[in-house]
Amino acid sequence: MKLQLVGFGNVGRTLVLLIQEKKNKLASLGISLKIVSISDSKGTALSMKGLNPIQVLRHKDSQWNGFNDYILGYSALDAIRNLEGDVVVELAPSTVSGEPGLSQIKTALARKKHVVTANKSPLVVAFEELTTLADKNHVRLLYEATVAAHLPVFCMAQACFTSDELMHLEGILNATTNFIIGEMEKGKDFQSSLEHAVNEGWAEQNCSDDVDGIDAARKVVILANSFFQRGVKLENVKVEGIRGVDHMIEAARKSHKRVKLVCEIVRKGRQVEMSVRPRLLSAEDPLAAVNGGDMAMKLTYKTAKRIFVSAQFTGVKQTASAVLNDIIKIGSTGQAC
Ligand SMILES: NC(=O)c1ccc[n+]([C@@H]2O[C@H](COP(=O)([O-])OP(=O)(O)OC[C@H]3O[C@@H](n4cnc5c(N)ncnc54)[C@H](OP(=O)(O)O)[C@@H]3O)[C@@H](O)[C@H]2O)c1
Repeated sequence: MKLQLVGFGNVGRTLVLLIQEKKNKLASLGISLKIVSISDSKGTALSMKGLNPIQVLRHKDSQWNGFNDYILGYSALDAIRNLEGDVVVELAPSTVSGEPGLSQIKTALARKKHVVTANKSPLVVAFEELTTLADKNHVRLLYEATVAAHLPVFCMAQACFTSDELMHLEGILNATTNFIIGEMEKGKDFQSSLEHAVNEGWAEQNCSDDVDGIDAARKVVILANSFFQRGVKLENVKVEGIRGVDHMIEAARKSHKRVKLVCEIVRKGRQVEMSVRPRLLSAEDPLAAVNGGDMAMKLTYKTAKRIFVSAQFTGVKQTASAVLNDIIKIGSTGQAC
């Protein structure tokens, strides 16, 4: 299968290493992956024979200096339009407008190429348009890594609950805020917990989207569109971040409860109600035991009733593994998770 990578940052680079590491496993599954192009913000490295992973990683480190297969100014859109490829793996930065990922995904689907993405923003902006385009062109658009990295969400629903109806979903879907709240529960104030999160690699210096609940709300939009109702937008989600949780942490300590930033989607007749807000959870709630940067989801189905999934999250390798799993799904004849 010929892969075209768009974005060669943390996830893209880790994915290339992971493909190399899992070579034998992939071969045992009958999957052969050839990376024919890698685009970053300035140009594209390309080889229809397949790029050498070690070489591309080394040359990216030295700004592609002396690498003859890198064409400065040949954009990801040029590569998607003009080169032969089966799957476009879209790993560009998340933005409010959805660009550049939105145009890249639309172009790939219109060219009848499958798409795997970890980038939330195009789906938040245009979920219905993109999934309709994929269906129309008989290609797949897979996005497991967009919500809580490798926490099995979409593949689990598809593999296990297609005949059921999801009524209620609650989740801890932002590792940064879960880590910060955990530090505050140990007695630190918000600012020093945030600094600790940055030092430990759980947060970027500018992580207001995480702290203000926006990143979690974007995940809610993707989940709501996937499982409840197409056409749901970010402005339909009630959002409250964690800047004012000090008093809740005090109350939690006194009542043996935990504070968590909870994403919630509830089916109310034909409507859905969506929120992201800090909540006090009793010790019996499985979400209360999700610590550090881990993430989890509690789903209530009409027939299956309550399902709880949680995942240890340690970093970008798990995001890359969710991306690779989606690629394998496309390469496998079976459609299961
Ligand atoms: N990191 C995680 O664990 C994680 C988890 C879940 C989801 N995600 C999502 O995955 C995506 C990638 O994350 P990341 O951490 O790898 O980001 P990153 O380190 O910032 O890398 C982004 C890459 O995209 C490239 N890029 C920027 N504009 C481009 C354009 N117009 N065309 C082609 N490439 C372009 C950048 O090029 P340059 O190298 O030239 O700057 C860079 O290589 C993001 O949407 C992120 O939200 C990440």
